Amino acid sequence: MSERSGFATRVGVILATAGSAVGLGNVWRFPYVAGQNGGAAFIIIYIGCLLVLGIPGMLSEFIIGRRGQSNAARAYHNFSGSRIWRMVGHLGILTSTIILGFYAVVAGWCLQYLFASTVGTLSGDAQYVANYFSTFASNPWKPCFWGVAFILMTHFVIVRGVQKGIERASKILMPILFILLVVIVIAACSLPGAWQGVTFLIKPNFSQLDHHVMLDALGQAFFSLSLGTACLCTYASYFSRETHLPRAAAQIAFIDLGIAILSGLMIFPAVFAVGVEPSQGPSLIFVTLPNVFQQAFTAMPLLGRVIAILFYALLVFAALTSTISMHEIGTAFFTEELHLPRKRSAWILTTVCSVLAVLCSLSVGAVEGISVLGQSLLDFCDNLTAKFMLPLGGLLTSIFIGWFANQRDVRDELTNHGTVAQRLFPIYQLTVRFIVPVLILLVFLHQFELL
Ligand code: PFF
Repeated sequence: MSERSGFATRVGVILATAGSAVGLGNVWRFPYVAGQNGGAAFIIIYIGCLLVLGIPGMLSEFIIGRRGQSNAARAYHNFSGSRIWRMVGHLGILTSTIILGFYAVVAGWCLQYLFASTVGTLSGDAQYVANYFSTFASNPWKPCFWGVAFILMTHFVIVRGVQKGIERASKILMPILFILLVVIVIAACSLPGAWQGVTFLIKPNFSQLDHHVMLDALGQAFFSLSLGTACLCTYASYFSRETHLPRAAAQIAFIDLGIAILSGLMIFPAVFAVGVEPSQGPSLIFVTLPNVFQQAFTAMPLLGRVIAILFYALLVFAALTSTISMHEIGTAFFTEELHLPRKRSAWILTTVCSVLAVLCSLSVGAVEGISVLGQSLLDFCDNLTAKFMLPLGGLLTSIFIGWFANQRDVRDELTNHGTVAQRLFPIYQLTVRFIVPVLILLVFLHQFELL
């Protein structure tokens, strides 16, 4: 087999991995989950979850991936010396393939909205915008077209390889994403009445806190950091031996949190400025926001339109850096396990995910009956992965690292053979052995209403 490629630079490592973490989960999911759970109070709990569960969880996947120097399934196998743990890698590959299938549908909606706001067909009154979404989403062709187009865009980055494809795309897209975000935050925060939205995000109201908030925060931390999908494990196999894993994990969690908070600062000031409820659900960005932008900038309609274009471009870029990482997990697996050329492996994944994306897209209105357990296939895939498969992957990884892996190997990998962060090891070990499994078990008990 040819020499395995890896990320060439330190900033490449951080930007590519942060690119996987930063996605629709930050720009779309975080603001509405925070909105539904009381704003600032949620953010405080969320930060706690990042510290006790997110960073240790990332470290576990980094340790397995970098030591394994291979796709996720083989990395678990190599680390444990047993075929059984390979299954955790397989689970992660399956999870990320399913996520890519439905995520591409939502990313495709963003592409359509980017197109529509550019050509000007998205403007109209609130009723028009609401109808626009339902008519579009239930059209049999258009959303399928955009969803598959998104997977193909991802495909063409992936076939260029780890350095020329993933690393280069992340180095271009991440800075643009950040600049777009800052521009929109400034525009949104300068609207009259915007301060209320800022206060909502920074002033905690603990009266709404209950165990649901905690569990939502845990689920959001998993999804947002791409934990439990073997994604971080696959990317870590491209890290260099010198990468300081705890520092990289902390930097990525910090960037991910920063982008999520900035996304809140982009959305809530605009939402408050026009008097919309902050607790709108998932439809926030496709039904409420186009209208919010129009109303908020009625005095300057051109600016409103530019902001809408920038906003959907931002969503597309954020989604793309994440779909690239989901695609890479399966592509690396097929390339290394079936000994296929990278291009052909990428096509396998592109085909499987495109079929799933078409089915998910049709299930939200165009064709009746594509449902599982009374939910559209898209909602089912979303719930199955976010509520079950991701936490299961995280739980098994934590149990493996904490209880079954050779602790000397874990220590060597975490500390780069005793040269960095030695004092962190006992804290890390305690966390992955006890705290992470217990917290994830709590999530499960809650999901299945046993709590
Ligand atoms: N972390 C991504 C987001 O916040 O949108 C979603 C994601 C990416 C999940 C990669 C899973 C994955 F493997």
